[in-house]
Amino acid sequence: MSFLDLSAIQKSFGPVQVVHDFNMSIEKGEFVSFLGPSGCGKTTVLRMIAGFETPSAGTIRINNVDQTSLKPNQRNIGMVFQAYALFPNMTVFENVAFGLKVAGKPRAEIEARVREMLSLIRLDHLASRYPYQMSGGQQQRVALARALAVKPQVLLLDEPLSALDAKIRVSLREEIRAIQRQLGITTVFVTHDQEEALSISDRIVVMNAGRADQIGTPSEIYNKPATRFVASFVGTLNLIDAEVEDPATNRIRLGGHSIAIRDSLATHKAGDRIAVALRPEAASLNPSSRADTQIPGEVISSSFLGSVIRTRLKVGGNEISFDMFNDPGLTPPAPGEQVTLHFAARDLLAIRD
Ligand SMILES: Nc1ncnc2c1ncn2[C@@H]1O[C@H](COP(=O)(O)OP(=O)(O)O)[C@@H](O)[C@H]1O
Ligand SMILES: [Mg+2]
Repeated sequence: MSFLDLSAIQKSFGPVQVVHDFNMSIEKGEFVSFLGPSGCGKTTVLRMIAGFETPSAGTIRINNVDQTSLKPNQRNIGMVFQAYALFPNMTVFENVAFGLKVAGKPRAEIEARVREMLSLIRLDHLASRYPYQMSGGQQQRVALARALAVKPQVLLLDEPLSALDAKIRVSLREEIRAIQRQLGITTVFVTHDQEEALSISDRIVVMNAGRADQIGTPSEIYNKPATRFVASFVGTLNLIDAEVEDPATNRIRLGGHSIAIRDSLATHKAGDRIAVALRPEAASLNPSSRADTQIPGEVISSSFLGSVIRTRLKVGGNEISFDMFNDPGLTPPAPGEQVTLHFAARDLLAIRD
């Protein structure tokens, strides 16, 4: 039995349905990310778990106890928001102590727990500061400590890093993950940033217009995207139009070439148009023993992205990008140059629409 169970959840605001039949079972201690573009319903699902919104249909259970009609303060859930929602007129200590005070805990217990939390986020030395005297990253660590102080059953984080600069975002996400592991707390983390979700999650729910398009580990989501939406939202992906040549042998025609792909085409018939996907890192201008397929193309442009150089090619009616690792001695191919692209047919994914 899973720890946090969302079963057939729906939510409408007036006539507009924003969450459709959302199902998710989260194990105790698991770190799950909801990943999707702005407006796809991530916050709404999180707010239903917390009890700030009531589902129009469906059931929310924690540890096998139905929470659906409980008020937020009856659920024992910790929440961290995007904007620093600290109380501006309270010190760090008072902010972290807030939930424990409301719960009427004895003074000595509050003192000890707050010290423990401040040491967990490595801010012991700033206990008497006010929020305005701290950086955004420090404020979010305090918000995390405040959420965890009451020993919640579930921790919910709604884009907690999106207001911070890139460097802090990366270090704080690692810190959040380390603290989450240390405490073993069941966590739902909302983000629209695919790299963030891929880097810290046990599992990811890719959300699209109020639905879960795919639920899987970061590797499953990245390497085996189930839908066109997941394929294009998670990572950079070439979507290439092709034609089914022979469903029995999984052969497609791509730019005048016949290629056998890994995925089954059994549900298609010869002549069907399909989309196949190829990651930019899976193709190269250099032959290799793994790359069993070659197609000619014409260079459109090359752009320097730091660690990699990304080149766009015109291949038949398609555009395909591929990456080469940066090397100071490397001259990227020039626009107009005719080249041969090498890749492994098994890296082509058939995409379901
Ligand atoms: N209280 C509300 N009343 C009406 N519509 C809402 C309300 N809250 C959210 N929505 C709508 O629900 C959809 C999903 O919103 P939200 O869950 O905030 O998305 P996300 O967090 O993924 O950006 C959006 O179209 C949003 O405008
Ligand atoms: Mg949101």
